[in-house]
Amino acid sequence: MVEKGLKKTNGLGVQVENTKICVVMVGLPARGKSLIAQKVTRYLKWLSIEAKVFNVGTYRRTDTPKPTADFFDTNNPAGEKMRRAAAEAALSDMLKWFRAGEGTIAILDATNSTRVRRRWIYDECTKEGIDTLFVESRCDDERLIMANILEVKTTSPDYQGTDPEAAALDFRNRIRNYEKVYETVDGDGDEKDLTYVKIMNIGAQVIINQIHDYLQSRIVYYLMNLHIKPRSIWLSRHGESMYNLSGQIGGDAELSSRGKQYALKLPELVRQSVGDGRPLTVWTSTLRRAISTGAHLPANYNQLQWKALDELDAGVCDGLTYADIKEKYPEDFAARDEDKYNYRYRGGESYRDVVIRLESIIMELERSEDILIITHQAVLRCIYAYYKEKSQSESPWMAVPLHTLIKLTPKAYGTHEERTAAGIDAVSTWRGKGSVAKHEDPVGEPTF
Ligand code: ATP
Ligand code: F6P
Repeated sequence: MVEKGLKKTNGLGVQVENTKICVVMVGLPARGKSLIAQKVTRYLKWLSIEAKVFNVGTYRRTDTPKPTADFFDTNNPAGEKMRRAAAEAALSDMLKWFRAGEGTIAILDATNSTRVRRRWIYDECTKEGIDTLFVESRCDDERLIMANILEVKTTSPDYQGTDPEAAALDFRNRIRNYEKVYETVDGDGDEKDLTYVKIMNIGAQVIINQIHDYLQSRIVYYLMNLHIKPRSIWLSRHGESMYNLSGQIGGDAELSSRGKQYALKLPELVRQSVGDGRPLTVWTSTLRRAISTGAHLPANYNQLQWKALDELDAGVCDGLTYADIKEKYPEDFAARDEDKYNYRYRGGESYRDVVIRLESIIMELERSEDILIITHQAVLRCIYAYYKEKSQSESPWMAVPLHTLIKLTPKAYGTHEERTAAGIDAVSTWRGKGSVAKHEDPVGEPTF
């Protein structure tokens, strides 16, 4: 049973057919605008909402690849002209993208630091029936700004080949130039008509104005949950189960003897990876194999069970092997291989459905610090796809071996990954397209 026509609804289950929103970033340099733009885009794409970042800096770099701070001085007419041209080129490409009919949300990533610039963007969008959502990131924590400069700006293409100290100093001067003309959104009440959210010091204070649209409010809610404290997310499948041994899918089987060994070894693996004494919260599904896998973890780890982490529901195929499914439901078997992400088991779920129910998990993960999640193959693929930006065609086919701990560490741009195998044998539950591989006979298992 392949679900057709789902393309224009999104992962939140609402129609997005006629929705066009331009998210306009606002803020001085090194205030996390690009990071926010990228995270929002990743989140929306994961939910099947077409989103794209238009970064004005990238356009500016075609003519001025390595500007010094004086390029950004408003008393420098040549610099002003080129910066205006870059903003126009980015906006023009964004409008073309909307006109082509594919896009739902564009993110215009630039400082957009004056009222005049913002009004121009608003007018150009309004003419074309595009709503605007201004997202201003303000930060007056000097230490954080300096840390941002050192973390991401000294390695920017703008400073390729420049000594990091000189780059940091120049970037500081760039910010000074922006500060001379910077006007906060609605600073004196003359932008009251705009839809905006102002985020102060990474969510210490949030001001919201004129948000009525559902998608806009989801974006704002997502932004309110973001933090930048260093943390990691550990992912593990449950230990090998009795169903894994027999090649059956779904069910609520207990662990095999090798699965039990993994559960016994997990505390040590986690301790080595997390470090001694660091508090950890453990989330498991509500299924026996996941709960048993976490059973030997230290008692001071807070453990929570989430129904949303239960394995993809295989409906009428629950308890069957892939070979059984091919024999009993050959059309379904072929349809699943054809479009595994969208295929919904009779009376069960598709990967798309799993992503929808995982949205609350992702939101909670964004708010949280260190978390260990013990879950199942399909669910783990969906969570992994969010962090590592895997496409819908790729994610349902990814190999996620049993008895392996995956550590994901979100960084300014991208997510760092480490894998630790427990060294305890287990069957492979990976199945290649077209095959009915019994769990113990994998066909050409890929790595990520
Ligand atoms: P530019 O205008 O030069 O492009 P930017 O505002 O886009 O700068 P980013 O490149 O996104 O800045 O800066 C990333 C850094 O900002 C990261 O180190 C990240 O931890 C930090 N950061 C993320 N969110 C915020 C925030 N809300 N306030 C301040 N810093 C933040
Ligand atoms: O075989 C283990 C398992 O977790 C099943 O319970 C589940 O149906 C399956 O993996 C999901 O993987 P796939 O989507 O590749 O069939």
